[in-house]
Amino acid sequence: MLVPRELARRLSVIAPSITLAINARAAQLRASGVDIFAFGVGEPDFEPPRFVLEAAKRAIDEGASKYTAVTGILPLRKAICERTERLRGYAPTPDQVCVSVGAKHALFNLALALYEPGDEVIIPAPYWVSYPEQVRMMGATPVIVSTREDEAWRMSPEALRSAITAKTKAIILCSPCNPTGIAYSEAELRGLLEVVRDSDAWFIADEIYADLLYDNRRHASPLALAPDLADRVVLVDGLAKSYAMTGWRIGWAVGPTHLIKALDLVQGQSTTNATAVAQHAAVAALTGPQDEVRAMRDAFERRRNVMLEELNAVPGIRCRVPDGAFYAFADVRGLLGLVTGGGPLVGDADVSRFFLESAHVASVPGSAFGMPGYVRFSYATGEDRIRGGAASLRRAIAGATRP
Ligand SMILES: Cc1ncc(COP(=O)(O)O)c(C=O)c1O
Repeated sequence: MLVPRELARRLSVIAPSITLAINARAAQLRASGVDIFAFGVGEPDFEPPRFVLEAAKRAIDEGASKYTAVTGILPLRKAICERTERLRGYAPTPDQVCVSVGAKHALFNLALALYEPGDEVIIPAPYWVSYPEQVRMMGATPVIVSTREDEAWRMSPEALRSAITAKTKAIILCSPCNPTGIAYSEAELRGLLEVVRDSDAWFIADEIYADLLYDNRRHASPLALAPDLADRVVLVDGLAKSYAMTGWRIGWAVGPTHLIKALDLVQGQSTTNATAVAQHAAVAALTGPQDEVRAMRDAFERRRNVMLEELNAVPGIRCRVPDGAFYAFADVRGLLGLVTGGGPLVGDADVSRFFLESAHVASVPGSAFGMPGYVRFSYATGEDRIRGGAASLRRAIAGATRP
């Protein structure tokens, strides 16, 4: 009896998701009737604007059932160009756009098109979990530049410069950032771009949260500041977060035409186009009235304020004010050493597990983002739920003892 050949070696370099065990346990508790405060997921609880759903239904009736161009239907690529000009201060042409099955897919296509063994890709930590894994899957090496809370989680130009080597293929920057919620100012981004200008590396800006900025902040986008770098700056964006359209799976990359041709090639041999109906819905979302997007943003800002106030009132938790996105990245080191029903809290994974088991609050340990000692709370949920979850945390902590 022959045993099947082994799985691909590239799988062995991919870290298993720390969040998976916690998510599975949260689902188990929920299934047994426990009311879980869902601060774990990065998914808006809003519905997409009604007119977007209507446009999708119309598209079905009008025959959007066929393959489209690999990089997306022209009206969508034009709408993305107009949006990029309006909100990111750079006017691409439709042949500079590749529409993919979500921003994650756009980033994966970029990884396939750009990274190879021997390459280094610079990623500031705390980072979104998929960046290093995608780099590793290509056989390239993630170079993690750790940032610090007392430096507002910013990667400085000096830190970037010292991480760059002859092998640096790309730099990935997420602003506003998942998980910290910090956003780079124009001056800070300019500083980084000066370093990029001195190198030949690609600069990938993940702008998926750029519509979700608070306190009247304006998003700083790299091609508005450095149009001279348009031959190696890539903007990644999508509908998931700002239009509450996570399940529609529409994201895109804007970049120089030779890179977009490469993405066309890669995507043409894998997924072909993003779903036709979803593309038509995306055209409606981007070209229709934007007041619901603004209303969702305003709601997130109010939720941020509630989450911050509530978290900072929990003994042992300390959290700085995020500038955007919908995450609070809290320092939980004040809780380490506590003894709970489930044992002593030694690291952030224990803390996150304790929050789930004893307070029924789902969260994600900072280690998942390359930053132990912290826990990420998503506030993509209602204000009452945020207050309820925080009260539950306070009760659970009051029940723990310090030996
Ligand atoms: C920083 C960041 N980039 C990209 C994505 C992926 O977005 P999409 O749902 O469009 O694939 C996410 C989703 O969580 C994210 O947090």
